[in-house]
Amino acid sequence: MKRKFISVKREIGSSFYKLNSEDKEYKALADNKIELEDHYTLYSSGRSAFLAILEEIHRSKDVKHIWIPEYYCHNVTGFLERNYDTIKYYYINPFEYQTKFNFQDFAKKGDVIVLNNYWGLFNYDYDPQNQDRPIIIEDHSHGWLTQQCLNSQADYCLASVRKSYPVSGGGVAWRPGSMLEEPYYETKADEAIEDAHIILSQSINKKRSFLKDDKGDKKSYLNLLSAGEAQITESNSYVRPNPELYEALEHYISLDINVVKSENLQTVLELIKPSSHFQIVNREGYIPFGLLLLFKDEASFKDFKTFCIQKNIYPANLWPDNDLRSEWKYFFNIHIDFRYDDEDMRYLAHCVNEWSETQVLSTI
Ligand SMILES: Cc1ncc(COP(=O)(O)O)c(C=O)c1O
Repeated sequence: MKRKFISVKREIGSSFYKLNSEDKEYKALADNKIELEDHYTLYSSGRSAFLAILEEIHRSKDVKHIWIPEYYCHNVTGFLERNYDTIKYYYINPFEYQTKFNFQDFAKKGDVIVLNNYWGLFNYDYDPQNQDRPIIIEDHSHGWLTQQCLNSQADYCLASVRKSYPVSGGGVAWRPGSMLEEPYYETKADEAIEDAHIILSQSINKKRSFLKDDKGDKKSYLNLLSAGEAQITESNSYVRPNPELYEALEHYISLDINVVKSENLQTVLELIKPSSHFQIVNREGYIPFGLLLLFKDEASFKDFKTFCIQKNIYPANLWPDNDLRSEWKYFFNIHIDFRYDDEDMRYLAHCVNEWSETQVLSTI
């Protein structure tokens, strides 16, 4: 299948580029706006939102342990370890959303537990009225505006925003149904987060020029992306985002990413042929972060990635440093959001099927 490249370069799955209001993909996103209630507090990163929540909890309570999942983003784990010496880990399989998971077996009153809405597919079952339970924080970074995110009954929630929109950072913290208590923000200078904003803005602008105007090269925006990420990692505060970022976050977070995503998912699922090499992780009635592919064999997992990159498709391994007590554990997310249309999804499915065929041929 040949792709019709006009002047615009096409690629699937990698980092965001700056959008303009006349872009077709921007309109596809902006067509679906949600009336959000106003209890979301905006931060410069997901980690910063996390810190604000944890500091708020620590202001009024003695926390014995903060329980976080073993399978988690290493940046978040490192950040939490840096700030608290009460971190404990619990095991959970992030692909077994159907399993009842009773965190109250280990996390007790006086503790805090972080529950991650893995890939937008998890819906934790607990009684929020129970007085004898830990404080619950849910992380909806991969399921922004999903039903679980909108209807959460946790004590606190957070999400990283740059996983879902073309913004130079951003985090959201909220208490379902009410505001965070004051002070919402720290008043100190955080140069690292300011630098992150500048560098990540340059990266998304350069990527736009590369894709839409054929200017510059990949290396420059990718280098900026990792330099910006390093600055987020350097930062350690929950200061108010600068006005430019604040405005961008306010604008984007109510645009519903899940409408186009669920249409794209439908298209791609109808076209991808079953393979013995991967499972498609999906849940009826839920909207996943992207096209989620789980592999058993590490060699074919790596081969798949190499094949995809040759086709301008960029699967993301979430997360490389994690291990699981299961056979199927090598995991890719491929973004299928508002940047992509029906033709892109056909191309994606075609490439995945083509790879599966090469696997069949190589075993004959
Ligand atoms: C699940 C999850 N939560 C939180 C974060 C932190 O977000 P940020 O990078 O915006 O600090 C990340 C990624 O870094 C993540 O993957």
